[in-house]
Amino acid sequence: MTYLHANERRFIDELKDYLRLPTISAQAEHASDMVAGARWVADHCRAMGLQAEVCPTPGHPVVLANTPRRPGKRPRVLIYGHYDVQPPDPLEGWESPPFEPRVVGGRLFARGASDNKGQHFAHLKAVEAYLRTGTELPCDLTFVIEGEEEVGSAHLPEVLRRRRAELTCDCVVISDTGMPSLKLPALTYALRGIAALEIKVTGPNRDLHSGIYGGSVANPAMVLSQLLAGLVNQQGRVTVPGFYAKVKALSAFERRQMGRLPHQDAAYRRFLGSPALFGERGYTSEERRTARPTLEINGLTSGYQGEGSKTIVPSWASAKLTLRLVPDQSPASIVRLMKAHLRRICPPTVRLEVKAGHGAEPYWVSPEGPLAAAALAALRRGFGREPVLIREGGSIPIVVGFRKILRAESLLLGLALPDANAHSPNESFHLEAFSGGMRMSAHLWAELGQTLARRPASSAS
Ligand code: BES
Ligand code: MN
Repeated sequence: MTYLHANERRFIDELKDYLRLPTISAQAEHASDMVAGARWVADHCRAMGLQAEVCPTPGHPVVLANTPRRPGKRPRVLIYGHYDVQPPDPLEGWESPPFEPRVVGGRLFARGASDNKGQHFAHLKAVEAYLRTGTELPCDLTFVIEGEEEVGSAHLPEVLRRRRAELTCDCVVISDTGMPSLKLPALTYALRGIAALEIKVTGPNRDLHSGIYGGSVANPAMVLSQLLAGLVNQQGRVTVPGFYAKVKALSAFERRQMGRLPHQDAAYRRFLGSPALFGERGYTSEERRTARPTLEINGLTSGYQGEGSKTIVPSWASAKLTLRLVPDQSPASIVRLMKAHLRRICPPTVRLEVKAGHGAEPYWVSPEGPLAAAALAALRRGFGREPVLIREGGSIPIVVGFRKILRAESLLLGLALPDANAHSPNESFHLEAFSGGMRMSAHLWAELGQTLARRPASSAS
């Protein structure tokens, strides 16, 4: 702990270097920055004393890094994170440029600060403390830091399969979620899944003069708006037949846990700056945003978007949608339902194209049992506060891959505070979450080491 405290300034400078790399996985023009990002991580791991490798994939590379192995059978733990970030747009929203990290008011501002560079960096630095102070690590650790999380992790499963023997582990540790406040560290036991779709409707073969032709042909922007508007009703329910068929109800235990969180709708509304909150009738905001499935429009495009006016009937209109899923919904079957429904309701006045994008299964893991207890103990010791159990609304596509391919469950120990602005302008990472996270991580290896040493590997879950 002394090492972590004494070196914190240097850690922040190193993290700033990491954050300067524009590792935007979604944009082809950043492909070489992605390679540079993977190299930076591998080089940094090597400098810390890890054995690191950049693993190419048909997409962006994955970094694998091991702590020095010791003889004998020891607990093995993977630490997962991602070096890719979301596009920084809209740039006008940023108070300082997204890839010029800056500390203001105890927070480090940059795209990727919380999601996810800062969070897995906390684990790297905790491990560095063990290695540099010659303290024996109670577990063998492998870092898996990938570059495609923000675009669905399409190529990571193949790496896990190919390297299964060396990646087999007792559990996976992931800090890529949130905590309600610095006073409420959290163990997340569920994530929503996701299904992404792109819809395009096409009418006339070119943009038309709306005065000459308007009224005699359907307007694709209007048709798309009508299609989309009908997908969710006034009660906040998705209207696609069968959408809720597989949804598991929240247990009384879960509703109680959520009710304990210090959530207040009025403050939440002000924080979001929205004139009113809205969501599925019969559920609280906390339940709606973490444990209920949703349908969102992420982007909507049609016609003229430039300055002034332009009188046209646009030739086409398109929308990007994502649906957040909960157990036991699956992205493949939700995509099937969506396609069938859209085909059914689309009028014959336009041509309809529906393309499925990335997907992720929802995740739920029992917050009871010895691994969760070890994680809770580490949170308690790292943050000096009693941790809470939460569900989260975001998705981490590979967690179900860890379960299916490596038979390992994930401990989700998030360090992002509610005002971290992940995916938004002015993303930041709270430096106290960083130091608490490093302490939590340092304790975690001891806690997991003890817990796992007591149990045969086969019952680890
Ligand atoms: N760190 C997030 C996931 C997250 C955020 C979990 C907040 C819980 C609370 C992750 O980097 C992310 O944004 N994932 C994407 C996945 C998608 C692009 C497949 C997401 O949830 O939108
Ligand atoms: Mn993200």
